[in-house]
Amino acid sequence: MTVTAVIGTQWGDEGKGKAVDFLAEQADYVARFNGGNNAGHTVINEFGTFKIHLVPSGIFARNTTALIGGGVVIDPAVLIEEIETLNQAGVGVDGRLWVSPRSHVIMPYHKILDGLYEEAKGAGATGTTRRGIGPVFADKVSYNGIRWSDFASDAFEKRLKVQLELKNKIITALGGEALNYEGVRETYRGYYEKLKPYIKELFPIVQAGLKANKNFLLEQAMGTFLDTDWGTYPFVTASTTIPSAASAGLGIPPRYITDVVGVTKAYTTRVGAGPMPTEIHDTNSKAYGKFGEVAATTGRIRRVGWLDLELVRTAVELSGVTELCLTKLDVLRGLEEIQVCVNYKLDGKAVRYTEVDAYGLERVECVYQTVSGWSEDISGARSFEELPAQAQNYVKMIELAAGVPVRWIGVGPQREATIRKHN
Ligand code: GDP
Ligand code: IMO
Ligand code: MG
Repeated sequence: MTVTAVIGTQWGDEGKGKAVDFLAEQADYVARFNGGNNAGHTVINEFGTFKIHLVPSGIFARNTTALIGGGVVIDPAVLIEEIETLNQAGVGVDGRLWVSPRSHVIMPYHKILDGLYEEAKGAGATGTTRRGIGPVFADKVSYNGIRWSDFASDAFEKRLKVQLELKNKIITALGGEALNYEGVRETYRGYYEKLKPYIKELFPIVQAGLKANKNFLLEQAMGTFLDTDWGTYPFVTASTTIPSAASAGLGIPPRYITDVVGVTKAYTTRVGAGPMPTEIHDTNSKAYGKFGEVAATTGRIRRVGWLDLELVRTAVELSGVTELCLTKLDVLRGLEEIQVCVNYKLDGKAVRYTEVDAYGLERVECVYQTVSGWSEDISGARSFEELPAQAQNYVKMIELAAGVPVRWIGVGPQREATIRKHN
């Protein structure tokens, strides 16, 4: 039995979707345990190109059972559309995708409030995805949430009525338009009818899998430094993103987690506000041009920067990462020199990530090491030995700093554009 958590070691978008898609071949169960449809995981394989927000990216492997745990928050319209898209592409979701009745439902007022809070914060805004994530998790922990289980009785109607009374007061006070009870009720009852065949308590499924020594693949959403506790608060997301979240969010006892794969992009990106020590501000620079990406969920332009080894090192320690999956190494091609941040300094003294808060992190200086780049196209490489010496050295430098081996190297967005490195 293996229970492998796949987690991003930076600020999200490390390439977890692709990693999970290729690791899923060995899995019996693939699961999401945190976050919601703020996630956008890109998968490119024989079925096509997908930007998945809620369904586990391991759904494409024929033999997997896919689970959306109680720790996930769900916008039903997004999930319904995703199921339809996957079924139309021939992926065959029915009968092997199960959604926990414990998962919370993103309501229209969550999305409205997300936007109103952001606007009220002005220049200090978080830069959220505006998917209602902060407000739905706030309702969850303040006992105001609505779960799928509520739809099995009239608990939904009763709870919705109270919530709308409360939320409409806030919304109208902030200049928004009140929501109509009947309208929301009808729409959400309609969603429930469509999702009902997929909603099932996961506890017996997970327990049976663990007892039968099956292989689990747990797909984190967001990245380590968006974690509510360990990220750059308040520029974070509203859920725990470290592997321990899989325990509460899925019902897997922590001692069953056998492996933690840290997905690390060969450079750094960030979407939304918050500190980013290695950020490249020169939009005319060659590196900026190469690293540029468009966010999978919101279509925003991602902020880009050099690889930050202090972040990766901290993520490895915090989450007990056992091996790394390095992604997007192919993108570095053609840079004569590559900068890598090896340490931070604040007011002339060495500091660790954990010694400063988000505002301190704004002020840290990076100690850079400059390494030689390569000009060869490595996208066709399928073994470590085929990589140019400079690319091999880049990988070895990461292993040394992180203290764990790099097992996989991404050299392109497609599933097969992956090197399995043997140590
Ligand atoms: P996730 O949220 O961690 O799943 O990552 P995203 O899908 O949001 O962003 C990662 C982007 O990098 C996507 O566009 C992927 O298709 C792409 N990608 C992933 N791995 C590689 C790789 O090794 N090389 C290249 N060129 N692109 C990759
Ligand atoms: P994946 O799973 C990158 C960021 C948002 C914002 C902050 C809070 O694709 O890696 P939220 O909507 O969660 O309240 O926004 O978190 N964020 C992500 N950034 N990748 C993600 O997911 C993200 N999910 C949230 O940009 O800064
Ligand atoms: Mg993403």
